[in-house]
Amino acid sequence: MVYLRFLLCFLFVSNVYATIVSHDGRAITIDGHRRVLLSGSIHYPRSTPEMWPDLIKKSKEGGLDAIETYVFWNAHEPTRRQYDFSGKLDLIRFLKTIQDEGLYGVLRIGPYACAEWNYGGFPVWLHNMPGMVFRTTNKAFMDEMQNFTTMIVDMVKKENLFASQGGPIILAQIENEYGNVMGPYGESGKAYIKWCANMAQSLDVGVPWIMCQQNDAPQPMLNTCNGFYCDNFVPNNPNTPKMWTENWTGWFKQWGGKNPHRTTEDVAFSVARFFQRGGTFNNYYMYHGGTNFDRTAGGPYITTSYDYDAPLDEYGNLNQPKYGHLKQLHDVLHSMERTLTYGNISTIDFGNSASATIYKTEEGSSCFFGNGNEKSDATISFQGESYFVPAWSVTILPDCKNEAYNTAKITTQTSMMVKKPNEAEDTPSTLKWSWRPENMDNFLLKGKGESTQTQLFDQKVVTNDQSDYLWYMTTVKFKKRDLFLGKNMSLRVNSTAHVLHAFVNGKHIGSQHAENDKFNYVFEKDVKFKSGRNVIALLSITVGLANYGAFFESKPAGITGPIFITGRNGDETIVKDLSAHKWSYKTGLIGFESQLFRTESMSKWSVESVPFNRTMTWYKTTFKSPLGNDPVVVDLMGLGKGTAWVNGNNIGRYWPAFISSKNGCDANCNYRGAYHAEKCLTNCGEPTQRWYHVPRSFLNAEGDNTLVLFEEIGGNPSLVSFQTTRVGSLCANVYEKSIIELSCDRKPISAIKFASFGNPDGNCGSFVKGTCESSNNTVDILTQECVGKEKCSIDVSTKRFGTPDCSGAVRSLAVEAIC
Ligand code: GAL
Repeated sequence: MVYLRFLLCFLFVSNVYATIVSHDGRAITIDGHRRVLLSGSIHYPRSTPEMWPDLIKKSKEGGLDAIETYVFWNAHEPTRRQYDFSGKLDLIRFLKTIQDEGLYGVLRIGPYACAEWNYGGFPVWLHNMPGMVFRTTNKAFMDEMQNFTTMIVDMVKKENLFASQGGPIILAQIENEYGNVMGPYGESGKAYIKWCANMAQSLDVGVPWIMCQQNDAPQPMLNTCNGFYCDNFVPNNPNTPKMWTENWTGWFKQWGGKNPHRTTEDVAFSVARFFQRGGTFNNYYMYHGGTNFDRTAGGPYITTSYDYDAPLDEYGNLNQPKYGHLKQLHDVLHSMERTLTYGNISTIDFGNSASATIYKTEEGSSCFFGNGNEKSDATISFQGESYFVPAWSVTILPDCKNEAYNTAKITTQTSMMVKKPNEAEDTPSTLKWSWRPENMDNFLLKGKGESTQTQLFDQKVVTNDQSDYLWYMTTVKFKKRDLFLGKNMSLRVNSTAHVLHAFVNGKHIGSQHAENDKFNYVFEKDVKFKSGRNVIALLSITVGLANYGAFFESKPAGITGPIFITGRNGDETIVKDLSAHKWSYKTGLIGFESQLFRTESMSKWSVESVPFNRTMTWYKTTFKSPLGNDPVVVDLMGLGKGTAWVNGNNIGRYWPAFISSKNGCDANCNYRGAYHAEKCLTNCGEPTQRWYHVPRSFLNAEGDNTLVLFEEIGGNPSLVSFQTTRVGSLCANVYEKSIIELSCDRKPISAIKFASFGNPDGNCGSFVKGTCESSNNTVDILTQECVGKEKCSIDVSTKRFGTPDCSGAVRSLAVEAIC
């Protein structure tokens, strides 16, 4: 009996996990089976280990076979040869969580990642090594890259996590989209790619290596596609299956920007079209985007939220209908795995961008009917039947007869998320604050730093990116009768500081930040200098280092000058160049060094006259953890720019004072036509990011929790409040003959606000009855079926709802329910 159990257990494990992964022109083959693989990106440090099991379980339930992640070098090796794999950085624990769910893994080691991650994942110490140039045949770089890549491979091998060892990882990646930027690297770039391929191969992982966007990928590297659409992609070798490593489910956000939205219909269309045209592996980038905690956001100016409009939202909630509609697509594609990976392919072109693709094996056929026309719907006649295929959509018929799925016909509810006040607080939104000023005396009045140079240095070189903050300080002496004095003087700074605060003789003379993607600007302010010694103190702040482009590592950051004092005497302008003055440097701020954000910090805080709109100010409060399990956010509306900590955990940079421009939003987002990052934007004229995720694992369920804010430009903390996020209401508008499932996500449905069967119109929250409507009381039917239940399943049929006369048009049911 024991033996039998052991045997069964062994069989089960070896069934789930691959031992041999290979590929041919058709597909990735795992243990002898060609596979249709659906995968999703989840970057482990963008959530917490406590969140991983739920995220991965939801991914599996969403129909994914695999989880993809990058490995972020700068997070793991913050100082040369000192490694960190703790907490959110526990790569092995993350991979084992994938394994525990029975999913496959795709490990993109890079170690260049891009990913809107600080410096693309490279450590800044690497840049500061002598003679260093990234991503080319530079010995110092190659040595370090090989050292890190080898270390990761060895760690993973030690845990038997590659499929060749019976583990979950079926694919590994070296480099990332080098093909997109390799032109400027010339011949060295080509040689570098060959070196990458050889180096990766020599690590002997036993699974195929991929190189995305690399159409000269040396064999046996698999070159793969990244983009919003990859149906036209042709790999550079007939033995390489057609694979899509990044299907962008939405887009990222930058400070000053709006909320991106890629419609569900369009994502589904891109996937279905990819499989229609011979695709075999699709990875959603991102499936769960998550949060850029601490200083991990790339840039410049990537926000703390990396929600990405992904199927799982920043907090891990289902982003409906995206999650559900794609799940249905995955189920249909999986049901056709055999015909898709073994069938003979034939196509019929109907003109006007409409086509049918038939995959045929001896056992049966599967069909795709595609309509790539942005405007006109199509009616496709096939084997005596006619099929309605809306514009910009694909219909899938696993048996070439019955429509199982159409990318534009959504039968999944739309969930409207809401934020609820913290019910654990007796007096919500009136947190009691204490405060402290940031101590800057040494810098503002004495200009005294840690080191001096007669040169202006790039910020990265001085700080090693140990902090966002760098003081540049100098003193200027004027004699009483100096020609300059009193002559309409100004200070002019040529700056690549993401944010700059300027002080003269202790007085704040102004601040400026880069706008509209111009990270190179001139700061100029009138200043009254005095005779004798004047102290100029410039605080330069980075907001995420560049992560993309050829030679992006040397994009300037900080105050690279030149810096002038100008005086005007009638028509004459006198200029004094300060660039080669003696500059004193100081990395970081005192409050960070003394760790004011730590709960156990002994420093004194004042509860008297808590100031508003004061620059460089620390605030602190305590709060109770919100009840229940819903994800927690802190609303930082009213604040300017800074950093926030909960119980000592850095939850990221905040900047609610950065308001996006009023124009460019699209209330009537049309899914038809190719997506681009300016399409279907929302949140115009609002703070780019107002809510900040506080993972439950950062909170004490019992007792007090501490929130500390370092406010840099001045703000009002009295509006700050903790909230929970959950489904507030849900909507659907589905055609008859479909089944719709309504759910408030583990909470009962409390009321039906609107329901109509006929030809209702409008959008979620603004549905209106149409010209035809069933005489049955649709609201009553749904109330009986759904209210009080956590979920209900509705058969949208005339049998259930009556037969309104809609002059032959297809009837639909629109419903809005309150959670
Ligand atoms: C790709 C890159 C990803 C990510 C994405 C945009 O070019 O490979 O890492 O940066 O763009 O989100």
